Amino acid sequence: MPMPRNKTEDDITAEVLERFAHTPQPRLREIMLSLIGHLHAFVKDVNLTEAEWFQAIEILTASGRMCSDKRQEFILFSDSLGVSMVVDLLNHRKPDGATESTVFGPFHRQGAPDMPWGGNIAHLDRDGAPALVGGRVLDLDKQPIAGALLDVWQAQTNGLYDSQDPGLDGLHMRGKFRTDGAGRYLVRTVRPVHYPIPADGPVGAMLRATGGHPWRPAHIHFVVSAAGYEPVTTHIFDRADQYLGSDAVFAVKDSLICDFERQDRADAAARQLGIDPPYYTAMFDFHLKPAAAGDTDMLDAQRRLAALGAGAA
Ligand code: BEZ
Ligand code: FE
Repeated sequence: MPMPRNKTEDDITAEVLERFAHTPQPRLREIMLSLIGHLHAFVKDVNLTEAEWFQAIEILTASGRMCSDKRQEFILFSDSLGVSMVVDLLNHRKPDGATESTVFGPFHRQGAPDMPWGGNIAHLDRDGAPALVGGRVLDLDKQPIAGALLDVWQAQTNGLYDSQDPGLDGLHMRGKFRTDGAGRYLVRTVRPVHYPIPADGPVGAMLRATGGHPWRPAHIHFVVSAAGYEPVTTHIFDRADQYLGSDAVFAVKDSLICDFERQDRADAAARQLGIDPPYYTAMFDFHLKPAAAGDTDMLDAQRRLAALGAGAA
């Protein structure tokens, strides 16, 4: 009788794969088999020690404990490891001319107020430089889309979103704007500032240990939607920002960078809204592509993420 051969790590991998190969649902089977294959290969590739494995469990446990209705450490991991941007790119390939998407992030909240033309989302922000952000929402033939919805959110000049700010109890720096008959929108706000993603948890520890930084370049978030068009979740970035080349969450795309220009004389819109110079203006047109199947799934998924990440309003 020959001695039975000792089990190897590859035997374990094969056994696990064989068991999950019976998953009835084809897409779940595909995902599970690939996940197991890659996870096992990773562990073998780096020759993971038991101490490192326990540390990984501790990190995941600490991440779970950190999550609340105001904090989502797992979204931060996904963002700071670049996974969110890969998922975004795989799911939102845009034809040339359509506005590119970027990360949703953890700070969107449901219930932003409806705002009129030029409505001020920054009414409690006393330190920021006044800014008017405007432009048009157009289709791929450059025709205006009337009645498009722009859901806008932004960090305050103190670098905090409303949900992070202990001095605030409600919504701030958020608003829903509609385009007029010529597809135009106008948002009154303050010039965005760069700010760090929350770094007091496991993601911050990872960034410090790997020589990274938590800073995001100055930006304003938009979800732009209109009946019959694919919604786009995106930001506009301030061209002058020092972190454009090293965004902590890899979200910068060249087409989303725009100029915030200083104005020393009030134009008609500024006069109408009672804004005294100096103030900044930024012009950005959004271009939507026609709707495809699955778009409502995306907005539903965003609603669920928002409820996880930043406290439903
Ligand atoms: C944000 O821009 O709000 C954000 C995105 C990813 C991680 C943290 C914050
Ligand atoms: Fe942000």
